[in-house]
Amino acid sequence: MLSLLLLLAPSALAVGAQSLDDKYSCVGTFIFGRHNDRVAKPAKYLTTYGARQQEASGAFYRQRYFGIDSDGNKTASDFVINGLDPQGYFVYGDTYAQCSGDTVIEYSQMSFLQGLYPPSTAVDSNETLIETQDSELSNGSSVVAPLGGYQYVFMDVQQETSDNYFWIKGDVNCPASDDAIDAWSDSDYFKEMNSSTYDFYQSLADLLPSKKFPKWKLNFGNAMSINDFMFVNNIHDEEWASKWNSSLLFQVATLADAAQWGISYDSTNKLNNFTIGGQSLLGASVEYLNTTKVEGSPYINYFTGSYNTMYQIFALLELNKVSDNFTGMPGYGATLVWDLLKDNSDEYYVQFSFKNGTKENDELVAYPLFGGNSTVLSWDDFVSKTEAVAITSLKEWCGKCSSTSDQCTQFSSTYEEASKAEDKGINLKKLANGDYHLNKLTNAGAGGIGAGVTIGVFLILGAVFLAWKKLRSKNTPILPISREHSIEHKDAGSSDATI
Ligand SMILES: *[C@@H]1O[C@H](CO)[C@@H](O)[C@H](O)[C@H]1NC(C)=O
Ligand SMILES: *[C@@H]1O[C@H](CO)[C@@H](O)[C@H](O)[C@H]1NC(C)=O
Ligand SMILES: *[C@@H]1O[C@H](CO)[C@@H](O)[C@H](O)[C@H]1NC(C)=O
Ligand SMILES: *[C@@H]1O[C@H](CO)[C@@H](O)[C@H](O)[C@H]1NC(C)=O
Ligand SMILES: *[C@@H]1O[C@H](CO)[C@@H](O)[C@H](O)[C@H]1NC(C)=O
Ligand SMILES: *[C@@H]1O[C@H](CO)[C@@H](O)[C@H](O)[C@H]1NC(C)=O
Ligand SMILES: *[C@@H]1O[C@H](CO)[C@@H](O)[C@H](O)[C@H]1NC(C)=O
Ligand SMILES: *[C@@H]1O[C@H](CO)[C@@H](O)[C@H](O)[C@H]1NC(C)=O
Ligand SMILES: *[C@@H]1O[C@H](CO)[C@@H](O)[C@H](O)[C@H]1NC(C)=O
Ligand SMILES: *[C@@H]1O[C@H](CO)[C@@H](O)[C@H](O)[C@H]1NC(C)=O
Repeated sequence: MLSLLLLLAPSALAVGAQSLDDKYSCVGTFIFGRHNDRVAKPAKYLTTYGARQQEASGAFYRQRYFGIDSDGNKTASDFVINGLDPQGYFVYGDTYAQCSGDTVIEYSQMSFLQGLYPPSTAVDSNETLIETQDSELSNGSSVVAPLGGYQYVFMDVQQETSDNYFWIKGDVNCPASDDAIDAWSDSDYFKEMNSSTYDFYQSLADLLPSKKFPKWKLNFGNAMSINDFMFVNNIHDEEWASKWNSSLLFQVATLADAAQWGISYDSTNKLNNFTIGGQSLLGASVEYLNTTKVEGSPYINYFTGSYNTMYQIFALLELNKVSDNFTGMPGYGATLVWDLLKDNSDEYYVQFSFKNGTKENDELVAYPLFGGNSTVLSWDDFVSKTEAVAITSLKEWCGKCSSTSDQCTQFSSTYEEASKAEDKGINLKKLANGDYHLNKLTNAGAGGIGAGVTIGVFLILGAVFLAWKKLRSKNTPILPISREHSIEHKDAGSSDATI
């Protein structure tokens, strides 16, 4: 009887909701989500089904952090964050969302945010909101919001050459990561797998389109793309789906898992260069949660990216020690959650949870990290253990990747020498144009250089001259990276938004 009453009481948690020890409250979160259902690669669209799933996922987190259910009613949740708008209205700065400018990823992020912040009429009844949005005009008429009160949630979309791009897509434009992946296909394990599965893959010849998958492509080296084709078409294409039974699909998926895990986990070197994407995202988890901790907001950080980064994160966080399940493909829309908790004595903690997709029965479950046995880590523990396997700045990423991508130019030694030379009054443009001779350096320039180092400086100027010419011709790759020179880390919150 008592338990029945408890169930009916308004404070009862929704079925399947995660609970939190009373001594903690949730003060912020960092969520990393996978994109949702798309067509086979190369895919430019999120499907309608994928959009629905993402929206449902956003609604799930709305319930968790706002305590508002999909009917807009208040509901109990141990993770309600004080400070978020109580009506579930989007206030700039409360939620920070970052993704790369790839269509499927961007649309996934947008649909999730539509679930997190559904259309709201709060603006019609709340004085503060009426005021801020000036919906009452001087002539006395009030204006109703378009699209049922659609909420414009800010998204910080990163282009490939943006300074913040590496957080989510640390594997892109990263030669060190590409090389490490290539090296894996020379390993004994790969060769053994490639030969032992060869007959199986060849047997798929009649079950796959021969144009896309000619026989020479049917091997373990293409495990991921074969799986992608079958996984996607099993959802979307009746004709193909009818050719495949579940045991076949399972076998193809399991082999793909082995292939992807192989380039995510190195038992002898956790920091293998093929995990640079995961290292970067883990850096973001510290960097952005720290901002939340120090500034008090944004309360919700939500990043959207890809499965390969997730496999790498599982490896770096040693989640394979908790369960073999973490060596498998995370479901569409899967979410990794780092909740920032605070206890009664204002100490901070982090709890990691994972939700393997966006379906109703995909539960959000807390797991211990780094081979530990508690799901709650003290803040200091979280920071030190994560930073040991993380990349925490663009400069570090550029160095670890040996990247020549545009955003790394600022860290090259030649670039720094060029900046110094310009500070000394040397006009590099003129130098590059060839109408500027060293014996015509301004007095300030020549004097600033100092007689004792003149020869060295001439050598540097020679290099600068060539580099400048290269930069001007634009299509040539940029400059060598130097790790000695330090440059201020740019404010992670700044601009780069294209939407
Ligand atoms: C939500 O609230 C409305 C009234 O505001 C009520 O009619 C409805 O039954 C509630 N839904 C649930 C699931 O409690
Ligand atoms: C009205 O909206 C403001 C801003 O979002 C919020 O701080 C306030 O709590 C709201 N008031 C009510 C009564 O919900
Ligand atoms: C009030 O001003 C708005 C905007 O200029 C206009 O659309 C509306 O018709 C006006 N209402 C009245 C009652 O004049
Ligand atoms: C895998 O084996 C096939 C057949 O022997 C071969 O053609 C292919 O090059 C191998 N893949 C890699 C990446 O070595
Ligand atoms: C599933 O499909 C594979 C490949 O076509 C076939 O070899 C196998 O017998 C099928 N299994 C069942 C249980 O039908
Ligand atoms: C958190 O931010 C503060 C203020 O910027 C800084 O002093 C501190 O080093 C940061 N901590 C971490 C772990 O990044
Ligand atoms: C692993 O997945 C299986 C099947 O979904 C599930 O029964 C099991 O509880 C999972 N293990 C862990 C540790 O999550
Ligand atoms: C997530 O689900 C996939 C199957 O869809 C499974 O292979 C994988 O092991 C699951 N991961 C976890 C951590 O449960
Ligand atoms: C769990 O962690 C605590 C603290 O690190 C340690 O003392 C204890 O031995 C651990 N227990 C197990 C079963 O690993
Ligand atoms: C990883 O990348 C760095 C930087 O590009 C490189 O110096 C290092 O040799 C690479 N490590 C391995 C094991 O290849």
